[in-house]
Amino acid sequence: MMPESKSDLAAALEAAGQDHLMGTWSDLSVEEQANLRTALEGLDLDQVQRLREHLRSPNEHAAKSFEPPLTFPLGRSTEQAARAEHAISIGKQLLRESKVGFVLVAGGQGSRLGFNGPKGMFGVGPVSGLSLFGWHAARLSAAQRRHGTNIAWFVMTSSSNDGATRSFFEDQDVFGLGRQNVHFFTQQMLPALDQEGRIVRTAPDALFLAPNGHGGTLAALRSEGMLDLAASLGIEQFSYFQVDNPLVRPADPLFLGLHALAEADMSSKVVAKDDPGEKVGVLGLADGRLGCIEYSDLPGDLRTEKEGDGSLRFRAGNIAVHMIRRDFVENLTKDGLLDLPWHLAQKNLKGLDAQGNPGEIPGVKFETFVFDALGAAANSVTLEVRREEEFSPVKNAEGPDSPSTCRQALTESFGNMLRAAGVDLPDRDQDGTLPLEVDPRVAENESEFCAANESAGGLKALKGEHGWLYR
Ligand code: UTP
Repeated sequence: MMPESKSDLAAALEAAGQDHLMGTWSDLSVEEQANLRTALEGLDLDQVQRLREHLRSPNEHAAKSFEPPLTFPLGRSTEQAARAEHAISIGKQLLRESKVGFVLVAGGQGSRLGFNGPKGMFGVGPVSGLSLFGWHAARLSAAQRRHGTNIAWFVMTSSSNDGATRSFFEDQDVFGLGRQNVHFFTQQMLPALDQEGRIVRTAPDALFLAPNGHGGTLAALRSEGMLDLAASLGIEQFSYFQVDNPLVRPADPLFLGLHALAEADMSSKVVAKDDPGEKVGVLGLADGRLGCIEYSDLPGDLRTEKEGDGSLRFRAGNIAVHMIRRDFVENLTKDGLLDLPWHLAQKNLKGLDAQGNPGEIPGVKFETFVFDALGAAANSVTLEVRREEEFSPVKNAEGPDSPSTCRQALTESFGNMLRAAGVDLPDRDQDGTLPLEVDPRVAENESEFCAANESAGGLKALKGEHGWLYR
């Protein structure tokens, strides 16, 4: 509770090492004072205190032993192939029974892409220009058609993009999924601190706040009432995915079925990393605990260590696609028990320093990561999938993981679908890209495309301004 009187407020802030926030109080207008008070009321000063302490003594210990995870591989033994087939039927059944809720996390700031608006509004459809949100919606609508599942889509935003995200969904008529099936919830924001642990401001009456990382999803599912809602809808599993990867398949019966068969709490999809220098985290056991091992935390000799077949021993590249049991989230977040480690991002923050002078303040943002919950999972499945079929995120404005690499990956995967069905490919553009798009509702992989093509007696593509569109 924030104290009512100004002097009590000043004392509480001083106790939390934040007395600088009151330093310019008398220079503020009545309205600004009211704004600052409202902003301070949104703060949990005990938590701020813990963040400060963490900043002073990060309490990080380097793990001593590392092991790769047991992975359900792409190259399968006869036994594994049979298990996969059984898993697919279990997964389809769970989808048919609408036991799966889809959790899209879209609360990030997308600062590297530099797009003006929530990243989900960014257009990635190579021919249609369809947005990332639209792309995910099409995948869910495909699941509705293919498996008869009732869609329950939980979309996490943060206060920095919630309004714009909701308006976009509204403008698109919720992509035809039905307003009652899309549930927005917001994650917590945390103050950014300067190197001395003082809260940075963006204006004399406004704090520098940033979303608390995708690990905040778990606590927000509870605090925003989504766990109760999911339970009331009969949802047992959450399919977790991130906004920036249009190749993600949130309703994949194989992944769902393997996870359910193993009675896993939380499972992950991975792609093989073959360049030891690729700065992607790998799933593995650090001191016996499953998690994502950051590139920089893996000792150099392990980074490059190879198996007999030449593949990297630590190759399970994390693509942030998870299946998570609802009751696992219930237990993890009960009585505020969830205790994920902090990850600190050192940034130059545009704001006011402690004395109120504007500038670039060397500071820290605090985040938790969802994959840190893997360590608490009693059972977990790690499923290897093909990178070219399931992973091409839009992170940067250019270079790797940018709109152009994503467009390339999408069109190549569509090209493979056509090839598998024996359909002629259009000529490549001058930059070598196939001017081609397959709507997920038509097919999400080669075998679905072949089946759709056969039952239609040859699918017809529409000619758009930017190429050919199968929809
Ligand atoms: P990233 O870690 O790539 O961050 O998020 P970002 O915020 O999108 O982009 P940068 O780092 O500012 O350039 C991966 C996924 O996690 C979500 C993002 O929206 C994205 O889907 N995310 C990230 C959240 O939902 N909340 C967060 O606090 C952070």
